[in-house]
Amino acid sequence: MIERIPGRSIPRVSYGDKSARFQRYGFFSEAPICHNLSGMDSRERVATDTAGLLLEPVFPDPVKANARAGVSGVGVGVIGCGRATVALHLPALSRLPGLRVTALCDSNPARLTEVGRAWGVASLYRDHGDLLGDPAVQVVLIAVPTPEHHDVFLRATEAGKHVYVEKPVALDLAQADRMLAAAASSRARTVLGFNLRSHRLVRSAHACIRSGALGRVVALRTVLVGGLAERVPWQRRRAQGGGAIYELGSHHFDLWRFLLDSEAVEVRAHSLSNGSDDSTVAVSARLSSGALASSILALSGAATHQVEVIGQAATLRFSLYRADSFHIEPVGRLSELINWLGRLPGAVRAARRGGDYLDSYRTHWMRFLEALSGGEPPATVKDGRESLRIALGAFESESSGRCCAL
Ligand SMILES: NC(=O)c1ccc[n+]([C@@H]2O[C@H](COP(=O)([O-])OP(=O)(O)OC[C@H]3O[C@@H](n4cnc5c(N)ncnc54)[C@H](O)[C@@H]3O)[C@@H](O)[C@H]2O)c1
Repeated sequence: MIERIPGRSIPRVSYGDKSARFQRYGFFSEAPICHNLSGMDSRERVATDTAGLLLEPVFPDPVKANARAGVSGVGVGVIGCGRATVALHLPALSRLPGLRVTALCDSNPARLTEVGRAWGVASLYRDHGDLLGDPAVQVVLIAVPTPEHHDVFLRATEAGKHVYVEKPVALDLAQADRMLAAAASSRARTVLGFNLRSHRLVRSAHACIRSGALGRVVALRTVLVGGLAERVPWQRRRAQGGGAIYELGSHHFDLWRFLLDSEAVEVRAHSLSNGSDDSTVAVSARLSSGALASSILALSGAATHQVEVIGQAATLRFSLYRADSFHIEPVGRLSELINWLGRLPGAVRAARRGGDYLDSYRTHWMRFLEALSGGEPPATVKDGRESLRIALGAFESESSGRCCAL
């Protein structure tokens, strides 16, 4: 159905709830994920402007999706039912037939009941120790505030559960090292929530850089502006894992490492604190490959998520919030239109799968699920530690006013 929206020149295309195809894939996209992040209702209707049209997503019914997975699916227990769980993980998990959310835990009883009812999950626990004792739970998602990752992770691996732990891995290196040791001594498989590694365009960029198409890469530049106007109190305090360096930087420092297969050897940071600690930061680094990296990260503002990789033969640019944005600009010639047309089929396919951004969570879970039966998970606790090392170096540089060797 196409309808005209008063005051808007672009028609809105929406698909009725009975469309099996869009029920299956849902529609989700770039800028909209940011709007979605601001609300607790993951089924909130959102829109994308892929190919100049506004496409409204239709999300699968979460209760039915969970029931469809049946008893044969791998049982997932979720610890922490806040924004990340409701807006990102539960929608992603509902699209994975091999996984079934069997239990939820939140220390806030009202929140627990609300999320349990909305997602049709009957086993509800206020104490994560009780969830870890539930035999129907084989995999645990740890999505509690960052200061609690360490304790919950140690208990989960000790209980023999496979663990998906959200970023940043922990508050400091001592915690991260204990988590690494626990992961190494347990039979449980673990994955770090660096879902950007599973983003379609990031994977294309990784392949493109490795192919040598850009020539020698000399620099990487990223911008991430979170679209959230409001953040919960802990996310505004550096001491509690909040602020743009912990919250956003952890993702982008991992992107530096992942895209360039290289480690940061020195880091420099500047920070502004308006209303939140580290509300806006600029972090730059020299990498072991000799390339330079820089990221501008802001907790709030108009949602932006850009990556630019500068090689001696070509520059690659894309936005993680725009499915059609992958663009390679060779030195000496412009090929905007050809590039855009060439990328369009991939962009349309991504829209069908629900949009690249949300799909990165689904893909990350899927890759972890595959790793349960052998193979490497898409990101490890060690990757979390390395990203954290850069974040801590940034804090040191910011307070000393000097470059920090890592
Ligand atoms: N990968 C991503 O893109 C992404 C996005 C958002 C958040 N995150 C990460 O996910 C984690 C959670 O973030 P959020 O935004 O959902 O936070 P949040 O504050 O919205 O939610 C945390 C929830 O955990 C509950 N909780 C706190 N301590 C608990 C405990 N000991 N046991 C059980 N429940 C407990 C709280 O009541 C709350 O409902 C953070 O580490 C954050 O950095 C990752």
